[in-house]
Amino acid sequence: METTQRLVGSGRGKLILFGEHAVVYEQPAIVASLSRGANAWVSLDTKQSIKIVDGMSGEVFAETTPDAEGDGLQRAFHSMLQVFEVNAPARVVANMNIPIGAGLGSSAALAAAVSRALAEFVGTQSDTARIERAVALSENVFHGKASGIDQAAALGGGVFLYQNRGDGKAIRQLEVMPVRVAVCQADKPASTAGEVGRVAELHERHPKRTKQIDHVIGDISRDAAKSLLEGDWDAVGELMNFNQGLLYSLGCSTGPIEAACFVAREAGALGAKLTGAGGGGCVFALAPDNADTIVEAWRAEGWTAFSVDIP
Ligand code: PMV
Repeated sequence: METTQRLVGSGRGKLILFGEHAVVYEQPAIVASLSRGANAWVSLDTKQSIKIVDGMSGEVFAETTPDAEGDGLQRAFHSMLQVFEVNAPARVVANMNIPIGAGLGSSAALAAAVSRALAEFVGTQSDTARIERAVALSENVFHGKASGIDQAAALGGGVFLYQNRGDGKAIRQLEVMPVRVAVCQADKPASTAGEVGRVAELHERHPKRTKQIDHVIGDISRDAAKSLLEGDWDAVGELMNFNQGLLYSLGCSTGPIEAACFVAREAGALGAKLTGAGGGGCVFALAPDNADTIVEAWRAEGWTAFSVDIP
């Protein structure tokens, strides 16, 4: 496309409310997309490049060129350019408005924003299958064996019960009453691919036990969907605590994550759990009437925290 016009796309961040990891083993999970995420702009330049800026601090997080054999970002960018058959010297600038690598779906939000901007650039913005393919390829670079839950949230909006049984994805939108949750950056970011790989090894060593754990987590997600629809927040909070215990048993928790869950519950949260792959990253707490009290309790302990509305 012969233009110097800057074309924009966006993608949403997400919170996995229930069912991370088990969702990779075909169990249902619940995801809520956030109103924050990533925005990307494409313009013509002298060569193909991508720059990622932290939208909150203005700091440049990464700046690079596409490379099929390069690091994660280079490979992801290369595959997205391939999907949209972009040969022009397109320069992409992406702003991230959620913490990067902290379990809030930053990689999928970035991929959704970049893919949508590239689709605009080549005039295929209505080809949603192509946009989904580009996001899936990028997610496979960052996640290893990805369930697709992050990309569903990044491209959509709302709360979903999501299941990928291998033969196809089932996504059911849940009409959940708006609720405010508190989010804390409990521990340093961890690699999703690394955590997914570690959990896969645990499945190989303990197939019977891990399958049982996956089933219980899947059941919790199904029950949580009902409780969310009924607005039964006490039950939702208790189910979050059960889910956290099972994630702990899969080795996904850390000392700071457990401490953040404990502080939140002590401060009155109905439930608290990690969100995303774990091994680090964020915790969220359910406190419909006092989310900001939980945020204050976390901040008093030195954590970065904020509250956010769902859906
Ligand atoms: O770490 P995140 O937010 O990208 O979430 C990963 C969720 C997993 O269930 C661990 C992996 C997946 O692909 O579903």
